Amino acid sequence: MNTPVISATGLWTPPNSISNKELVDSYNVWADNWNREREADIAAGLLEPKTHSSVEFIEKASGIKSRYVMDKTGVLDPDIMAPRIAERPNEQISVLAEIAVKAAKDALERAGRKPEDVDAVICAASNMQRAYPAMAVEIQDALGCGGFAFDMNVACSSATFGIQTAADFVRSGSAKSVLMVNPEICSGHLNFTDRDSHFIFGDVATAVLVEDVSIAPVGHWKILGTKLKTQFSNNIRNNFGFLNRAAPEGIDAPDKLFVQEGRKVFKEVVPMVATMIGEQLGELNIAPTDLRRMWLHQANANMNRLISSKVLGREATDEESPTVLDTYANTSSAGSIIAFHKYSGDFKPGDRGLICSFGAGYSAGTVFVEKTA
Ligand code: COA
Repeated sequence: MNTPVISATGLWTPPNSISNKELVDSYNVWADNWNREREADIAAGLLEPKTHSSVEFIEKASGIKSRYVMDKTGVLDPDIMAPRIAERPNEQISVLAEIAVKAAKDALERAGRKPEDVDAVICAASNMQRAYPAMAVEIQDALGCGGFAFDMNVACSSATFGIQTAADFVRSGSAKSVLMVNPEICSGHLNFTDRDSHFIFGDVATAVLVEDVSIAPVGHWKILGTKLKTQFSNNIRNNFGFLNRAAPEGIDAPDKLFVQEGRKVFKEVVPMVATMIGEQLGELNIAPTDLRRMWLHQANANMNRLISSKVLGREATDEESPTVLDTYANTSSAGSIIAFHKYSGDFKPGDRGLICSFGAGYSAGTVFVEKTA
């Protein structure tokens, strides 16, 4: 039987960052304009005025201080409040594929792997830019990989679901070297005029190379165990899709972008994830104290604090549960992979850690790893 391991990871970060202050200032101008334009209706009690967003609230409620985005100008323009990314002709690489290729090249280089040695590409992300052809096939072509490629979407848990899928391919012998990429242009599905959520997301791309141990580079990561779980919930939802054009309401309603019941998500997902981690630690016979680090999904700092305390029985240190939320915000499926990529270089052979994601679906995934010599 083949043995899947993680050979390397890759990261691509957009050049533009938006601070909470910049985001809040533009939201507040937009809100003032909105109120002014509806002054009469607001005065007549027909409409509630929009209230200002606040930098202090955002940082306290989420831990987010800034986010990277593909387009800063459109997002911060009170008359636009959305990224503006030009459509490209079909002959040109699409933007989502382009950023995935950048992260993929980083991972391949770190593993000393040539693209032609890769025999499967999985594009696992929340925000696919089109219906078909699959993003993964375009990424496979742009890199020059062999084998097969396909897309999968399990929202914020896409990367852990992608890692288990890749590991299963390696185990069964369907592929030996699987490139799993997570290009996330979350700014495209975020409603920047919604005060409750305008601060949540950022853009990024990550990549994970899962390979058979026989070809993996030195210093790879053993996969000790993976587990996936889903449980239907409407509390995080995005109704955007091609059937919208068939619906009388069209595509412009706010539910065609990201919407959530943040409080409910917090309350329901924390115990679901903490229980899942605890159970799998038991199954794998790993004591929580044997985990040097948890690279948790990056949605909310308070949520991660609670999950790690439930697992460890005490509050985790920043080293045990690192955050990238402060600079990247929530990057959907890529969050736990960015944390793993940036905060794993100090691991010694035998050190163990956990990559864990959770999000819409609900969905949750765990990948327990151990550094090798
Ligand atoms: N600026 C200022 N105040 C704001 C605000 C903003 N941008 N957004 C909301 N508020 C206000 C609310 O109006 C509310 O005021 P009220 O008490 O007078 O009604 C108050 O702040 C608390 O709002 P609430 O939405 O309950 O905040 P919260 O503490 O639950 O934090 C989230 C909101 C979204 C950060 C938090 O619930 C969360 O992260 N949940 C999990 C989300 C998640 O993981 N989602 C997965 C996405 S993939």
